[in-house]
This record gives sequence, C-alpha cells and structure tokens, in this order.
Amino acid sequence: MNSSADNSDAPAVQREMAEICDLLKRADVAYHDQDDPIISDAEYDRQRRRLRDLEAAHPHLKATDSPTDSVGAVPSTGFAKVRHLKGMLSLDNAFTDEDMVDFVKRIRRFLNLEPHSEVEFTSEVKIDGLAIALLFKEGILVRAATRGGGEIGEDVTENIRTIRAIPKQLEGAPDLIEVRGEIYMTHREFQALNERQALQIKEDESSGRKSSAKLFANPRNAAAGSVRQLDVGVTQSRQLEFLAHGWGEVSEPLASSQNRAAKRLSEMGIPVNPTFRRCRTVEEMLESYRAAKAERSETGYDTDGVVFKVDSLELQNRLGNSSNAPRWAIAYKFPPERAWTRLRRIDIQVGRTGALAPVARLDPVLVGGVTVSNVTLHNEDYIAGKDSTGGAIRDGIDIRVEDYVEVYRSGDVIPRISTVDVKRRKAQSRPFEFPRRCPTCGARAVRAESDSVRRCSGGLSCKAQSLEGLKYFVSKDALDIDGLGEKAIEEFHETGEITQPAHIFTLAERIANSGKPLEARPGWQRKSVDNLFRQIDKARTVDFARLLVSLGIRHVGSQTSELIAEHYRSWPLFLEGMKGASELSGAHWDELVSIDGIGPVTAKSLVGAFNHADFLQMVERLTDQLDEIREQETKQLADSSIAGKAIVFTGKLKSMARAEAKSRAEALGAKIYSTVSKKIELVVAGEGSGRKGKRAQELGIEVLGEEEWLQRLDPNWIASDEHEQKQDQLSLPLEEEGSLEPNARDV
Ligand code: IVH
Repeated sequence: MNSSADNSDAPAVQREMAEICDLLKRADVAYHDQDDPIISDAEYDRQRRRLRDLEAAHPHLKATDSPTDSVGAVPSTGFAKVRHLKGMLSLDNAFTDEDMVDFVKRIRRFLNLEPHSEVEFTSEVKIDGLAIALLFKEGILVRAATRGGGEIGEDVTENIRTIRAIPKQLEGAPDLIEVRGEIYMTHREFQALNERQALQIKEDESSGRKSSAKLFANPRNAAAGSVRQLDVGVTQSRQLEFLAHGWGEVSEPLASSQNRAAKRLSEMGIPVNPTFRRCRTVEEMLESYRAAKAERSETGYDTDGVVFKVDSLELQNRLGNSSNAPRWAIAYKFPPERAWTRLRRIDIQVGRTGALAPVARLDPVLVGGVTVSNVTLHNEDYIAGKDSTGGAIRDGIDIRVEDYVEVYRSGDVIPRISTVDVKRRKAQSRPFEFPRRCPTCGARAVRAESDSVRRCSGGLSCKAQSLEGLKYFVSKDALDIDGLGEKAIEEFHETGEITQPAHIFTLAERIANSGKPLEARPGWQRKSVDNLFRQIDKARTVDFARLLVSLGIRHVGSQTSELIAEHYRSWPLFLEGMKGASELSGAHWDELVSIDGIGPVTAKSLVGAFNHADFLQMVERLTDQLDEIREQETKQLADSSIAGKAIVFTGKLKSMARAEAKSRAEALGAKIYSTVSKKIELVVAGEGSGRKGKRAQELGIEVLGEEEWLQRLDPNWIASDEHEQKQDQLSLPLEEEGSLEPNARDV
C-alpha cells in the first residue's frame, strides 16, 4: 500500500508511524530482554516493512530513533573505513605502586611544579571491552567507529544503533561531540551467549550441518565479535553495554576538568563510569586502586585495572601525548591471574629477522577465563633462568620439558610462565638444549654478544625468514593488503609463486604461467580473487613510512619509519642516502643519527640492511612495481612561526622541563634534533648551554634565550613565577598589560 506524500493526511500517518515504532520497540524488548515475544516473527516483519514504506513516503515524519534504522541494513562488503577526527590513543601501564609514584613524579617534573603544589587525579576502572567512538552532530548519533589502529577504524554505525545502552540522541550537547567509551558484555550475558552458541553447535552437528556458531573465549571477544560482524540482527540479539570514559573532537570545550566533563556527559544522557573517584595524593590513588581490586569480582564485567587521569584539562593539554599515549593518564593494571599446568614440548620458531623463538606447548589450562596452550619462552637465557644482564629470573630455575609450570596472564598481556615446581621434576630430567642451527634451513644460528637472541644466518635464503617477512609485509601494520592473509601467503610461498614482495605485484602473471587458475584452487572463489587483485592494485600507491615499515628491518617500526620519512621526505633521496652510508662515520651516517629519536642501534640496523646486496635488490624489485611512493606530509600548523623549523634545545630551561618544551614545539610543527649542524635553523639555549650554543653561533644559527623562545611561541606568555604579577595586571587596561616586559622579573 502506498501512502501519498500529501501533507493533509500527516496527522493520521504520523500517529500510525508512532504506533508502529512503539510496537516494534516493545517487541524488541520483549524478544531480546525478556525472551518472551509479544508478536510473531512474521507480524514483526510485516509491521517493519509498513513503517519503512511510510518513512520513505514521508521522510520528514521519520523518528530519529526509528527501529528501521537499527536492523536490516547489512553492508554488502566489509565495513567502510573511517578516519578518526582525532587519533584514538592507548594508555601507558603501571604494574606496581612504585610505577604509580613514578608516574606522578614524571608529571610533576614535566610541569615543573613547586614541591607542595597539588595535582588532582580522577580514577575509574579500566573496562576490558571494545573501544568505540560515537560522533554526535546537533545531538544526533551520526557515526560510530571502532578504534582500529588508532587512526583509522571501521564504520559500525548500523550495528551500534541496535545497542540500547547507547543513546541515539543527546540533551544539551555541543554542535559536534565525539564520545569515546567502551562496549562490553557482562559475565552473565557472556555465559548465556556461550550456552546458546553451544546448543546451536550441538544442533548443527547432530543434523550433519557445518556449524557457523562458535564459542567465545572471553567477554571482550564476544563483545567485539558481536559488533564487528556484518549481520546487524546478530548485534541486536546480543546484550551489549556501554560506558563512556572520554571524548575526542568537540566543537566547544566541555568543562575545565575531567570530573566536570564526565558530569556534563552524564547530563547529556551518556552513561559514564559509576566507579569515578577523585584523588589528591598518591596515597589516595593507591587506596582507590586497592578498593577497586577488592571489588573486582563484584562488578559483573571484566576489568583489567584502574585508569588515573590528571583532572585539570588545562594540565592535560600541557602534558600532551607521547607517541601513542597521553602523558596525563595511566592504567594501573590488576595483578595477573594464574594456573598450573604441564609443559609438553618446546618448539623453535624462526621469525622474519631470523630470531629463533622458543615456544612452550602446554597441556591446555584455563587462566582468567582464557584457555592457554602456548607460551613464549623468549630466548635461551630465559629458559635457563637468566635475564639479559645475567641476573636470575624465577630464582634462577630453568625450564624443562615435562616440568609443571605456573602460567599467568593479565588483561590483554600475553600469557607467561611465572614459576616452575622443581619438587615435581623427575630425577632423569635434563636442561633444555637450545639449537645451534636453524631448524628450518640448517644454517648456523649465531648469537651476537650484545644480543639476547640467537639468529639464523641464512638471511632471505632461509625459507622461514622469507615467509615470515612476507607475512609481515602484507600485515595490518605494514602494507595492509586485505585479502592476502597469512594462509594465502603460505600457499603462494609453498608453490613458489611469491617468494619476495615484488612477486605479489606480478602475481597475476605468475599464476597464469602456472596453468592453474586461482579460482580452481581450494578456498578461492570469484569474489575473493577479485578482492585480492583489487587490494594488491591499491597497494601500488604507498606512503613512504609504511613502505619502510613493511621491509621489516630490525628496530625500524612505524614510529622510527615516520621520523625517517619526515626527515628525508622523498624515497629516492632516502635510498641514495642509505646506499652511500657507511656505519659509524661519514655525512650520511651523521645525517641519520642527527634525527631526534634515531640512535646508533637503529641507524646501524638500517645501514646494515641497505648495504646488503640481496636486500637492496629485493627493495628495488619491489619499488619497480609500485606506482607511487607518497612523500611524508609534515605536521604543520599554518599559523605557527616555527612550523617545519629544525630546532635544537640545549641547556636547562627554567619555566618548564625540556620534555615539555620539545613536545610543545613538535605540536606546532617543528622538527627537533639533538645535535647542532648546518641544517639547524634555531637553537634554544637554556642555562649552561655551553658547547652547543657556541657551535650554533659559529655556524651563524639563530640562538634564542628561554624568554625569547617563549615569546616567540606565544607573545602573551608570561613565565610561571610571574603569574601572580600577571593576575594583578589583569585588571589593567589592555594597552598597559602589553607594557609588561619579558624580563620584568629581573628588574
Ligand atoms: S581513558 C588515551 N578510561 O583502554 C585513551 N580508557 O588500553 C584514554 N579503556 O583505548 C582512554 N576503560 O578504550 C580510559 N576508564 C577508562 C577505560 C579506558 C577502558 C580502554 C580504552 C583505551 C584502552 C587503552
């Protein structure tokens, strides 16, 4: 039946639409919450279709929280990618009371605080769930995205709309606000869900069907699995909870402190953590932690620690972020959970850098709700009961095959062995003999004096190294070629069709030559083949930093790669530099180590890799296949006078710690270096700057004193011990305020 869009029947239509909305919502609650449906499935579907038709004919009458928005719209392929308006960071961890004392000290040092001044903190439990960013425009939920790698997440708006705990509309919210929080599942729902899943699996098995149901390992997986799947109806059928713990982009400041901001969020209708407390001293923080730990088993959902945040948003702002975590927050993790089991075997895996990694195979054991059957043993010293400095770990007790071991895990931390029960060891047991040859290629496995790890010397000719390198190359952290997973790489490696990165980009021809089309191979279908080649083609355009990461050079991860890409800007320039570089001396070496954050160990690893003929050939073959290696964008703020400038800090600053000064300059787009050379454009010289200051003068580089520097950053800036003076001056007319000289304190 088609309703006309004529407005004359609007009141009647409006009433009908409201009635259906109401009925569907009640039916949802009855079905999902009370497991007691009030209408049949067929009737439910019929009413939904009717509402949909009415909404299509009268879009202006559609309710913002219409049930038709919450189900049915299944995206046909995967989730769309979303770039977060502000990166979603992670948290630094504390494991001991001392770590907490250090955290507070670090903050005080960074902010250059007087000994008796107070910094207030907030505390709340850390929920072990799925991080989510909810974007509200004019109070309406318009987008929900998972954290992903922090920069880019997945658009899960449709699924999120089915979660009752998440408001779809806010009261009195700013024009734009991105609320961040955690989606989680209670223990009760988790258990009920797994019971339902087990039943389904049993039913499927008994009727000879391959079951698509699975058991979830823990509530976090269950929550994530319920959101990150394409059938919106499935998300809706799982009872998920939500609590906010922060925000990203906002069109206007929320408040002046974390606790007031939390209150505002709550007033807008957003559920915030009920465990929120305020702490004035480290003692209060530790007390809050102990209380949360004692109550841990009663919260009814998984928590893995307590998060402490500096309460003042002004101080949070000053503290800023380190590479991927705010300096103003920390997660004090709860102690790990433990269980005893038997170690049956020690396998040696060979990684992409040739590292021989021992893995213990255990009798499966439940630790904190997760089944553990493999545990890393790190290296031969660890097995022998020694740390990297030769000191004893586990009281010097070694680990042997057939030992009884205690396994522990804490939150997202991977499981480890804490102790060995030596009393249960058999008399004939012998220490584990670590192999001296690569178990894959048989090449000698050598251990450098400074290295805790023994490495296969076979290089790219070792099958394990080349395979692991390829797996890393396509992984999320590196080139991120979706559609070419680990299993596919293993298969193509086995057939010899992909034995180095360049082969990925000529895969179509290589397959054609094999005479066996991909679609004819097990596990491949038309759709997955199309997707594979589409993704490969997409990867032909790549950012400089990502390309460098994907090469898997030791010590060269994403952070280092970004520093390098920011410095050299263009890949050919970088490659020239690497080819001409020699270790420990020469202009190219000096240039490399002059980059702040690149030390001799990283530099040596880079230079060593690019000086190796096989490696260089592998890289050049790869880059021949690429369409474009994009230059790194510099993080510039258009109106900052120091954006893009190469700066060195030297000497002691009075107004703030050097760390804060550097981080502020970086935030304004400056590049910070540690040594003074010709390319440095500005040197900020604090007290006792000595040699570097002199060198700068010799080179004719602009040198600024601390006060001049602060003036340059912010002409209205006044040093902290002048704040009181400024307070007095504030009542003066503006022109007079300007008369306050930078060096007024010295007068
Ligand atoms: S504050 C920089 N508070 O833990 C991010 N995070 O391990 C500031 N999390 O990605 C986050 N409970 O998703 C904060 N009470 C809480 C939290 C919490 C859980 C998650 C969050 C973050 C992850 C970091």
